[in-house]
Amino acid sequence: MKLLVTGAAGFIGANFVRLMLKGRGTGKYKVIAFDALTYAGNLANLKDFEEQEDFEFIKGDIRNPEQVETVMEDVGAVVNFAAESHVDRSILAGADFISTNIDGVRILAEAAVRHGVKRFIQVSTDEVYGSLESTGLFREDTPLHPNSPYSASKAAGDLLALAWQHTFGLPVIITRCSNNYGPYQFPEKLIPLFITNLMEDKKVPVYGDGMQVRDWIHVMDHCRAILIVLEKGRVGEVYNIGGGNERTNIDITRRILRLLRKDESFIEHVTDRPGHDRRYAIDASKITGELGWRPEVVFEAGLAETIEWYRNNESWWQAIKSGDYLNYYQQQYGRRGVIG
Ligand code: NAD
Ligand code: DAU
Repeated sequence: MKLLVTGAAGFIGANFVRLMLKGRGTGKYKVIAFDALTYAGNLANLKDFEEQEDFEFIKGDIRNPEQVETVMEDVGAVVNFAAESHVDRSILAGADFISTNIDGVRILAEAAVRHGVKRFIQVSTDEVYGSLESTGLFREDTPLHPNSPYSASKAAGDLLALAWQHTFGLPVIITRCSNNYGPYQFPEKLIPLFITNLMEDKKVPVYGDGMQVRDWIHVMDHCRAILIVLEKGRVGEVYNIGGGNERTNIDITRRILRLLRKDESFIEHVTDRPGHDRRYAIDASKITGELGWRPEVVFEAGLAETIEWYRNNESWWQAIKSGDYLNYYQQQYGRRGVIG
């Protein structure tokens, strides 16, 4: 089956391609990796597959109906990772969040209906549920209460996708996952920013009191869950995905400091994120009970391995911090693979 993976050059998309071409999905799919290569997209994340026959990269934008129409030809299933994903950026400037995370979903959904796509997985986030007090978990029937421009745009994308299922029969399934960590994560997010700052002997900016709670999951556990949903999930359903691993930001920070042998003088408490959600925590019993998925990576081991990955791939994150990675596409491809 031809599988269209949008946002494939980003953090989770690239890990998902790895799972499909070098892991559990191997042999079953031809992957079309479609990505606009925004600041967050990095072709170096996909370089291991460049020579494979079951892989093709196409540069394109989910907001462009002509590009989407062309790439949807003969596609059997879509997994949509393409999004603006960083909360702080959505607070600074929201326009791309609205156009990509909302209108981009509509454009993909319309083309998918026209081409008779058999599965449309909309990769969403637990942030659509808003913020929890110190107890309770997000369930699939928890009311949506997004608090940031990012999460509001993702919630709108979910609702549009479900409307396309109800109205036009598009076989949509939504996944809502908690905070991912692992290889290839852009060093603007908490864990890779702190690891790479410390490797450069820089301080780490902890927002507010650092007592906000996130439910951390290894990116490969998230990808394995999406694969199971793709193959066995029920159309029209939402599946929560979580690591069952709640940690405060200050706990994460101290762990990273310890693993990198740095002391607490590297912590800098800075002004809090406006509207900062206090706590996220997932009830993943639906996907576990119905589809048999459960997380496999133990957090302490996963975090240590992730630090090791950033240690062994200094050139990858240094190219990002210096901006050099933006030239990779031109160097590797020129205009080959661009639609339009
Ligand atoms: P990311 O920012 O690392 O990657 C996003 C990718 O989408 C980039 O490669 C970018 O170039 C591409 N993209 C952006 N706009 C595009 C457009 N208009 N057309 C085509 N491509 C475009 O994000 P990520 O962390 O890999 O997240 C992927 C998805 O998973 C997002 O939908 C996000 O909401 C969701 N999600 C992320 C997390 C997390 O912890 N990172 C958790 C749950 C859900
Ligand atoms: O919950 C899933 C979501 O997780 C995804 O939908 C988003 O795409 C992803 O970015 C992530 O959102 P968060 O806002 O939770 O992730 P971030 O890494 O930006 O921040 C994690 C926590 O750490 C949050 O409470 C803010 C805090 N933080 C973050 C940064 C970047 C800091 O204290 N300092 C920082 O410099």
